[in-house]
Amino acid sequence: NSQSNQFCEAGIGYGEVGCGLSSSTKLLIKGGTVVNAHHQEVADVYVEDGIIVAVKPDLKVTDDVKVIDATGKFVMPGGIDPHTHLAMEFMGTETIDDFFSGQAAALAGGTTMHIDFVIPVNGSLIAGLESYEEKAKKSCMDYGFHMAITKFDDSVSRDMEIMVKEKGINSFKFFLAYKGSLMVNDELLLEGLKRCKSLGALAMVHAENGDAVFEGQKRMIQLGITGPEGHALSRPPLLEGEATARAIRLAGFVNTPLYVVHVMSIDAMEEIAKARKSAYFPNCTALYHPLCNLSLSKGISKPFLWDSKQGCKMYFNCQILFKTLGQRVVGEPVVSGLVLDDSGLWDSDFATASKFVMSPPIRAAGHNKVLQGALSNGILQLVGTDHCVFNSTQKALGIDDFRKIPNGVNGIEERMHLVWDTMVESGQISINDFVRVTSTECARIFNIYPRKGAIIAGSDADIIILNPNSSFEINAQSHHSRTDTNVYEGRRGKGKVEVTIAGGRVVWENNELKVVPGSGKYIEMPPFNYLFSGIDKADASYLSSLNAPVKRSKPTT
Ligand code: URP
Ligand code: ZN
Ligand code: ZN
Ligand code: ZN
Repeated sequence: NSQSNQFCEAGIGYGEVGCGLSSSTKLLIKGGTVVNAHHQEVADVYVEDGIIVAVKPDLKVTDDVKVIDATGKFVMPGGIDPHTHLAMEFMGTETIDDFFSGQAAALAGGTTMHIDFVIPVNGSLIAGLESYEEKAKKSCMDYGFHMAITKFDDSVSRDMEIMVKEKGINSFKFFLAYKGSLMVNDELLLEGLKRCKSLGALAMVHAENGDAVFEGQKRMIQLGITGPEGHALSRPPLLEGEATARAIRLAGFVNTPLYVVHVMSIDAMEEIAKARKSAYFPNCTALYHPLCNLSLSKGISKPFLWDSKQGCKMYFNCQILFKTLGQRVVGEPVVSGLVLDDSGLWDSDFATASKFVMSPPIRAAGHNKVLQGALSNGILQLVGTDHCVFNSTQKALGIDDFRKIPNGVNGIEERMHLVWDTMVESGQISINDFVRVTSTECARIFNIYPRKGAIIAGSDADIIILNPNSSFEINAQSHHSRTDTNVYEGRRGKGKVEVTIAGGRVVWENNELKVVPGSGKYIEMPPFNYLFSGIDKADASYLSSLNAPVKRSKPTT
């Protein structure tokens, strides 16, 4: 394969790149513990032509089948990373991992699919998609697309429909930060939320107040703080909390589901928690009723203003049946926010400090532990990476001014290991929950379950074998990303992905990658995921509760 050899010669240095395409399309994974999000059992997994054909104990196969012994190991769905930026043009440069090197790194770490963000070209969604389709031609694993919305007019509105109905995109991201480039205002966000709702597409937000960040940056420069620590100081957690709350309220106002990407702070997480448990009063002008909630939480069964049939009688408008409805808000922490703290930003070496610069920033110690807790108790639902890497030469664009340091950190290769070590080995989540937060929930939210995110007959054969008794170690020398630094440098932990199978092919085994550019498939993602179920009914009940119009007599003089 000359195309693949080209990659070998390009010095990427993966053993047997392109030459090791396994001829066997039949695989048997024997004797492992097969773990899905809701079930686990000791069973064999039989794969043919890229599809899981059977999951049963003691399967018998013919001699032409490649057999992999998984005794004592966990056989799990390959990871799905909901948040990556490969080959993205950003802040005057382009991320150093493209759709080949980033995906190769992903496969070495047990991730078999990712969803990348298409950035429109001069606001054009069509041109943006074409450009990403071109970039993705070298893919060696399956991928899907979200799309960013950076302006809104009739043409964008029409193109959003084309994206959803013809191009397999079911999610749109709105940046509330990056003033002057990607940022949108509230008016645009509202238009976008309404359009997403009508198309059954999921609205996603990067939640930081971009105007206030701009102000914070000026403040730091005036103080003479120009190094990487200025990045974190200029955009504190309260600006993330504010934007998260605002986006949630506006999504609640439109009554459409919302996905908050890269939740980095307690402030943002608490807004998500509040919304997910919120009491909603269909005929009431106020969304939150502290008095009612207070009375209920104190366990008073019949508080003064509370009627078990009628609900809150606090307000005139509230005197009919109440219902409680958690707002449909999804929170995505990223692995950097879960396991790192901001201390690296104060390192005296610029290359070391600048590698940690991402937005929202990695927060002070403590936020990470609380986010881990929120992941384990279900306030946050799935883990991404925001893999967006620039090498130290690119990071040095901001040597004199933190505002020019390209934002982004690595993680696509490290996510599965770090979530396992941090969350499962510490006992914070079960092994089933590991599968849920790294794979299954992403597949459900982006509406591709059970094709992805499950080990059941009929699913794509994207599978990992993890040895809980082995260990991993992370460093820039041995990682597969093209970048020359790693924010997890030197980290070791328990649990190792020993085998990755993508589309039925063994692509990672014995610490060797066998990846083929062009072998990855584009996965179309249909609209109206489970989060949209019942939204129309809630709208109807809201409308019927309005009781308008009021007939009024003309005032007599
Ligand atoms: O710093 C980051 N997060 N870079 C990628 C762009 C984004 O905001 O997701
Ligand atoms: Zn973002
Ligand atoms: Zn009320
Ligand atoms: Zn991102």
